[in-house]
Amino acid sequence: MSYTVTLLPGDGIGPEVTAAAQLVAEATGVPIRWEVVEAGQKAIDSSGTPLPEAVLESIRKNRVALKGPLTTPIGGGFRSVNVALRQQLDLYASLRPARSIAGEGTRYPDVDLVVVREATEGLYSGVEHWVDREHSAAETVNVITRKACDRILRFAFEFAGREKRRRVTAVHKANIMKTTGALFQSAFQEMAGRYPGIRSDERLIDNMCMQLVKKPEEYDLLVTTNLFGDILSDLCAGLAGGLGIAPGALFGDQIAMFEPVHGSAPRYAGQDRANPVAEILSLELLLRHLGEREAADRVFRAVWETIAEKKVVTYDLALPGYTARPVPPSTGSAMAREIARKVPIVDLSTPLPRPGAGAGTSAPVDPNLET
Ligand code: NAI
Repeated sequence: MSYTVTLLPGDGIGPEVTAAAQLVAEATGVPIRWEVVEAGQKAIDSSGTPLPEAVLESIRKNRVALKGPLTTPIGGGFRSVNVALRQQLDLYASLRPARSIAGEGTRYPDVDLVVVREATEGLYSGVEHWVDREHSAAETVNVITRKACDRILRFAFEFAGREKRRRVTAVHKANIMKTTGALFQSAFQEMAGRYPGIRSDERLIDNMCMQLVKKPEEYDLLVTTNLFGDILSDLCAGLAGGLGIAPGALFGDQIAMFEPVHGSAPRYAGQDRANPVAEILSLELLLRHLGEREAADRVFRAVWETIAEKKVVTYDLALPGYTARPVPPSTGSAMAREIARKVPIVDLSTPLPRPGAGAGTSAPVDPNLET
């Protein structure tokens, strides 16, 4: 059976890292036909709009997409295409696993966290305006609905149950946000009551940030609203080894889109320096979603072994300041080729390694993110 998957190469480092993921996909032998579409500035240049209808149509038809990062102009300019895609396709659940890989690029070798972020409303709803003509005051509306709370919380508990996650922590600011925060909090408490087999608790966002930096290994799955989830997933990515290795997925009821946590990193564009692993692990999640479990396991293990060997790794896993054992950095494309070379030959007969453990460790862990 062959799959048709929409591919958005994106901006900045996007085309480099999505090409890397395509190379690795080819190495798995899973027959994927890529339907390439453009959004953002490139789409404005070619068709006058940052999000052409053809992009939405392609994703709606194929129901699965792999996406590179898209640049959003800061301050003025067009609205975020990333936010528009999530809202128009109703991709409400953003899943962002943060796993340290072979203890590299991190001070915390045992991080294995998942951030589940509501992706369609909150402070990203686009309801904002200047209060006066002088632009001396402005308001952004934080839209929180019971429906969106319930579906993201159900997603979080269902995922936790399926993936044998030991704890679900809701993150909010209900002490200050007495309506929006309280609505999310009460929806969480009610949903938690329906899953008595899963340990659940709550943290205020400020305390959560401090706790994560002090003892990330105590936490497991964090579920939260849009803005807090955006910030927390970068924090968790940083704990696990940086944006270069942090994958992500967005789910609606019918459609799934896979993209790294990182942005378009314009400073690195065209230099072949960016780490392709975040996009390659987003492909791993995509393969799991398609039910291609062995291919996904091969990709994960090939990434793990490449990083553990540390012969062909990009700057963020190679240089002093990022690692205790510096090595000469490789290009992103060389790292992708090394991962692709390993995919068909890795040995899957031993259990996949657990976060922090060196390659080949027999600690039984299932890093699966089946959805
Ligand atoms: P960014 O994630 O693009 O880059 C921040 C820094 O992280 C980079 O300077 C670099 O040091 C590091 N980094 C990021 N990706 C890396 C990789 N693959 N390998 C190695 N190092 C990497 O965040 P920034 O600079 O805040 O945003 C740039 C643009 O990307 C903005 O226009 C922003 O709106 C957009 N963006 C898009 C996202 C998406 O498409 N989902 C997500 C986040 C930002």
